[in-house]
Amino acid sequence: MATRQFTLTDNSSGKTSTLEALSPSVGPDVINIAPLAKDHGVYTFDPGFMSTASCESKITYIDGDKGVLLYRGYPVEQLAAKSSFLEVSYLLIYGELPTQTQLEEFTRSIGRHTMINESLLRFYNGFHYDAHPMAQLSAVVASMAGFYHDSLDIYNPRHREIFAHRIIAKMPTISAAAYKHMLGQPFVYPRNDLDYCSNLMSMFFGVPAEPFEIDPIAARALDLLLILHADHEQNASTSTVRLAGSTGTNPYSAISSGVAALWGPSHGGANEAVLQMLEEIGTADAIPKFLARVKDKQDHTKLMGFGHRVYKHFDPRAQIIRETCHQVLANLGRSDNPLFELALRLEEIALKDEYFVSRRLYPNVDFYSGIIYRAIGIPQSMFTVMFAIARTAGWVAHWQEMIADPGMKIGRPRQLYTGATTRNYVDIAAR
Ligand code: ACO
Repeated sequence: MATRQFTLTDNSSGKTSTLEALSPSVGPDVINIAPLAKDHGVYTFDPGFMSTASCESKITYIDGDKGVLLYRGYPVEQLAAKSSFLEVSYLLIYGELPTQTQLEEFTRSIGRHTMINESLLRFYNGFHYDAHPMAQLSAVVASMAGFYHDSLDIYNPRHREIFAHRIIAKMPTISAAAYKHMLGQPFVYPRNDLDYCSNLMSMFFGVPAEPFEIDPIAARALDLLLILHADHEQNASTSTVRLAGSTGTNPYSAISSGVAALWGPSHGGANEAVLQMLEEIGTADAIPKFLARVKDKQDHTKLMGFGHRVYKHFDPRAQIIRETCHQVLANLGRSDNPLFELALRLEEIALKDEYFVSRRLYPNVDFYSGIIYRAIGIPQSMFTVMFAIARTAGWVAHWQEMIADPGMKIGRPRQLYTGATTRNYVDIAAR
């Protein structure tokens, strides 16, 4: 497998060793540094994983310079145009697109798992009505380990499969319950006669007092957003799921850790923060003043929805979502949308600004997603929850891939210690 070799020389001792580069199916080679500690007694230092591959994976590929995103080899643009979120979930988890029969079976199985235990519903009453739904989501997901003792053997492939179907099926139900708790409305039970996103909308917006009419345009727009957010290789939340899962903990706890990591504004929380930012800017004439704040390092203001660790040219998901924004707003009869106009103008100005050009900062997936969520009635506090519902497919696929690998090791990084060296305890009277 090795195509290139690198020689490392310790200039003080003269000792050399050869490091082999592992070749991926596509993308840059990866130097295997595992022998370093044994051969030289040194570790490597790479805060933020700027140039470190944390694992081997076959699920998703990104070329950040060319703006390429592949799920199991399929370009995300093709999946966005032709597929559905459940089909993409199947693809991510099983590695291949399903046949018609396989998709029907998968959809039926997801349908069988949409309800949640009635005891779980009582958890929400422990939350204040204004608790952030991500807090509720991570807590309720973690608590699910207490309900499914029958299928928690992580080394049993069938148990893993049941977990995968269960969590994908229940995420919309758990999320909708959090939303209803915030509103003080009764919980609406899932409907298995509906597709994944129509059911989600029915649970979010339906009330027992009257029938709920599903808007197919809104349901399709939501499905598209879920496809685009379904996976993104070793991002912060997926790496968190892998790290937590590598300890052998139950998968619900691992996914709950992923939800917590996703919540941060540098990651999934950005979609909520973008709308806050646009509202704060208010009008196009205030853009230059806002960008001046962004460029002032003392101010700690970021242009939310801009920049990405991997994409340095454009984020293909942002392009699809911007285009979808036009279509969805037009189809819903809301073409005259001041926030979308403001976002377009902000993008235009930022992309001509030397600060963003020189740092290769472009709109990411979440610069425009909140505008669609809002247009279809999803409240701002639920934006990151929508992201979590989508990314559950990716988290599950990565967790499965890791656990199924016989060579799995607990994730345990080393450190560059710069604290005190050994010193003797000083009695309190003498300090
Ligand atoms: N606004 C202003 N400046 C920025 C932004 C931004 N959105 N993003 C990066 N920069 C600047 C940094 O300050 C840094 O400047 P410097 O070289 O003068 O110090 C330079 O660009 C490089 O950025 P880093 O922070 O080193 O890039 P990193 O890869 O570590 O961070 C991140 C990527 C976290 C996404 C960052 O771009 C950011 O905070 N963006 C805004 C939040 C956001 O939209 N997050 C969603 C990401 S996509 C997702 O998770 C779904």
